[in-house]
Amino acid sequence: MVKEYKFPEGFWWGSASSAPQMEGASKEDGKGMSIYDYWYEKEPERFFNGIGPDIASDFYHRYKEDIKLMKEIGHNSFRTSISWSRLIPNGIGQINNKAVDFYRDMINEMIANGIEPFMNLFHFDMPLELQKIGGWENREVVDAYVNYAKTCFELFGDKVKMWFTFNEPIAPAIEGYLYGAHYPNIVDFRRAIQVAYNTIVAQAKAIKVFKEHQIKNGKIGVILNLYPVYPRSNHPADVKAAQIADLFFNRSFLDPSVKGELSLELVDLLREYNLLPYTKEEDKELIKNNKVDILGVNYYQPKRVKAKEYLPNPYSPIMPEWFFDYYEMPGRRMNISRGWEIYEKGIYDLLKRLKDEYGNITCFISENGMGVQDEERFLQNGIIEDDYRIEFIKEHLKWVHKAIEEGCNVKGYHLWTFMDNWSFLNAYKNRYGLVSVDLKTQKRTIKKSGYWYKELSENNGFVD
Ligand code: BG6
Repeated sequence: MVKEYKFPEGFWWGSASSAPQMEGASKEDGKGMSIYDYWYEKEPERFFNGIGPDIASDFYHRYKEDIKLMKEIGHNSFRTSISWSRLIPNGIGQINNKAVDFYRDMINEMIANGIEPFMNLFHFDMPLELQKIGGWENREVVDAYVNYAKTCFELFGDKVKMWFTFNEPIAPAIEGYLYGAHYPNIVDFRRAIQVAYNTIVAQAKAIKVFKEHQIKNGKIGVILNLYPVYPRSNHPADVKAAQIADLFFNRSFLDPSVKGELSLELVDLLREYNLLPYTKEEDKELIKNNKVDILGVNYYQPKRVKAKEYLPNPYSPIMPEWFFDYYEMPGRRMNISRGWEIYEKGIYDLLKRLKDEYGNITCFISENGMGVQDEERFLQNGIIEDDYRIEFIKEHLKWVHKAIEEGCNVKGYHLWTFMDNWSFLNAYKNRYGLVSVDLKTQKRTIKKSGYWYKELSENNGFVD
């Protein structure tokens, strides 16, 4: 049966990206080094095909034509981030005026094209100088971040109304300090927890400053990568495993951001394993009084877990996986390029949970998308015929639509991403864009999905 999926008036249609993944120009116009610029210099072989963030999709030079393309494919909003090390090359101190000009011009260009800028302050790219003094483990860096946030509100708050403290703040903690996948490539659960905790404090402090700054009609939020966590069965051991995975991967940031308090169950668990972070007396009140106004939900895949098959080696470093095993559900559908399950209903389950357990906070889908390797396979008459991406978006949007019908407070949908962009470690292996980028020439070509997205946005929905 054919059905029309109409979305609420004023729904945000657009996409998301980040400074380190699209700007390039990593050594130009006074930009300082971020940890990724540094890591790439040190170990280029760790990035897919040895491609680093130095050129990326060259948005720094091509933003004007790119913003026009965004408009052409139906964007009414777009999220990117400010590069901290471009704006304040040493992380603290001197502001780089060329960066101020660039961001002001970029923001003005978006607004002139009817695209609302959603501005994120931090997308994994810690200024190198601050990493040298301990990065997020050091409270001085928390203060430097708050000063950076204040600078951004002052410089751009007259134009940008939608602000975000962090994209996926759990990622620098666990990828950088637990799984070794991001710089500084450490494997130490206790340190990861300190990083996560300090990030939560940094967020609360930035929100406090934001409120003091009183940006007219301004909103501040956080973008979290959330996972519906499904136990293998209803057996109490499987259910317990899922609860613990949920504590680590969702509630760790969701509870302090939205409810203004750390999950007590998580605190108890960390205490039991002697993993509690160093805190300050005043943090509790600060976190309580500085919750987010809006939540961005990045959804790619669920987590499926089961009780552990074997007891963990007591001599091995403690990891979240001491408490559960991942479960490969027979028949699960995979995006094999990325190794991620595709499960559209997960987006609905998440949104319903936010409604039922998190006060139906104003939210939007801030990332969802499909990265495909060797996408030139689908090139026909000069354009990439990515019907799979159109299907992927439609199938997720049907569930978002159902969630809205059932009262969830969802304001928009941002795809990852506008044009193919650089990815941490995977570089340009998997292409996510509505617009393809030829890395040799930097030529942009709208994909079939880009044309479809334009219709989606113009019709504020689709028929299927
Ligand atoms: C999100 C991040 O988790 O996923 C992006 O916010 C990232 O930075 C995106 O690029 C897709 O993941 P990946 O690893 O395939 O680039």
